[in-house]
Amino acid sequence: MSKKTITLTDNQTGEKYDFPILEGTTGPDVIDIRKLYNKTGMFTYDPGFTSTASCESKITYIDGNKGTLLHYGYTIQDLTENCSYMEVCYLLLNGELPNKSELEEFVKYFTNHTMVHDQMNLFFRGFRRDAHPMAILIGSVGALSAFYHQDIDVFDPEQRKKSAMRIFSKIPTLAAMAYKYSIGQPFVYPRNDLNYAENFLHMMFSVPTEEYKVNPVVASALDKVFILHADHEQNASTSTVRTSASSEANPFACISSGIASLWGPAHGGANEAVLSMLKEIKTTSNINRYIKKAKDKSDPFRLMGFGHRVYKNTDPRASVLKKSAHDVLEILGKKDDPLFKLALELEEIALNDEYFIRRKLFPNVDFYSGIILSAIGLPTSMFTVLFAVGRTVGWVSQWVEMMESPELKIARPRQLFKGKYDKKVKPIDKR
Ligand code: ACO
Repeated sequence: MSKKTITLTDNQTGEKYDFPILEGTTGPDVIDIRKLYNKTGMFTYDPGFTSTASCESKITYIDGNKGTLLHYGYTIQDLTENCSYMEVCYLLLNGELPNKSELEEFVKYFTNHTMVHDQMNLFFRGFRRDAHPMAILIGSVGALSAFYHQDIDVFDPEQRKKSAMRIFSKIPTLAAMAYKYSIGQPFVYPRNDLNYAENFLHMMFSVPTEEYKVNPVVASALDKVFILHADHEQNASTSTVRTSASSEANPFACISSGIASLWGPAHGGANEAVLSMLKEIKTTSNINRYIKKAKDKSDPFRLMGFGHRVYKNTDPRASVLKKSAHDVLEILGKKDDPLFKLALELEEIALNDEYFIRRKLFPNVDFYSGIILSAIGLPTSMFTVLFAVGRTVGWVSQWVEMMESPELKIARPRQLFKGKYDKKVKPIDKR
């Protein structure tokens, strides 16, 4: 326990209050204000949690000023260059990279849980065909709780592990089913002989009438996209999962709430928004007009795929994806893709613009992911779904870590009340 403290002085009464300072292994220290209300009768005020650490975690570390992203100590560049998505998933769920036999066992466990209950097929048919696949995913992941109610004791470590693996293994199947349903094609069952990304492509694009051959370049690019989305510490959707789980709710319902949070355009919905924006800008000659709109405070338009709450230097995921986008488009013979060219030029212009430089606004993970996903044939409506598929392992890892923590407490923020408080009800004919 750190001996460092900080003293808060009440300027009106002159009273002094000491608070402990807690130190992480790296990153900023935090002021432990758990006793603040007891000692002072005051709360802190921090909408959007810009200065608040909501939990202790060992999983992911981000240094936004240096553009660093680590999972259990490994840099994201090292992981994307040298590991498969399944190895990274094992790392997030177990705290260390697997050896060969551990990986084989993990993959076997995963493949044995990729199928969903046959009753889920009927559940899907309740959705309109034109429903957004994120809406279907939120509903179907939440519905899984109805299939495994015998195994959702959140305080039983065995049942916790089972639930975590079930959600992680079934999410690609549900995501592909959401897509197949929206285009009116039959659901495709998962295949145990394919790796994670290959199997996902198979479930998305194969049809019963002919053989589907997975393009290894596409599968490898998708594997990287999944790695880059696997976890990102206490972002909005992960915090939503933790908040839901703090009431000891079942994990399927908690992950479903995380998917709902991810859907918003300020979070995971941004990759879809980037593509819509590029299509709206249309040609490079329109870029300056849109940059002007982005800088105009009276205009709600923002440059989608730019800016990040934490990264104020560079988003390391965006750098990996930019290179990956180059490689994929080259190999697929689409390097003259007009949207990619437009994105490159837009990035160049924004990065040299005083407004973006001063505010430290850089391309984030969503800026290039949409271009890759579109090049490999995924419809725009599936972009955020892909993000959810990749992020599920992060959500379940954070959920397990939280449920194992001795500090587990229901999340219950307070507020600064600005409403009226002294009203009396008048009889209805006098209001
Ligand atoms: N375009 C134009 N201006 C921007 C943008 C943008 N994309 N992002 C931030 N700004 C400006 C703000 O207007 C503000 O300007 P001001 O200081 O003059 O008022 C300043 O930069 C700081 O922005 P905030 O909104 O305070 O930053 P915050 O940390 O709250 O927001 C966010 C981060 C939501 C990501 C924001 O940058 C944004 O909306 N970006 C576009 C959406 C996007 O790409 N989201 C994906 C994020 S990554 C992810 O979730 C996976």
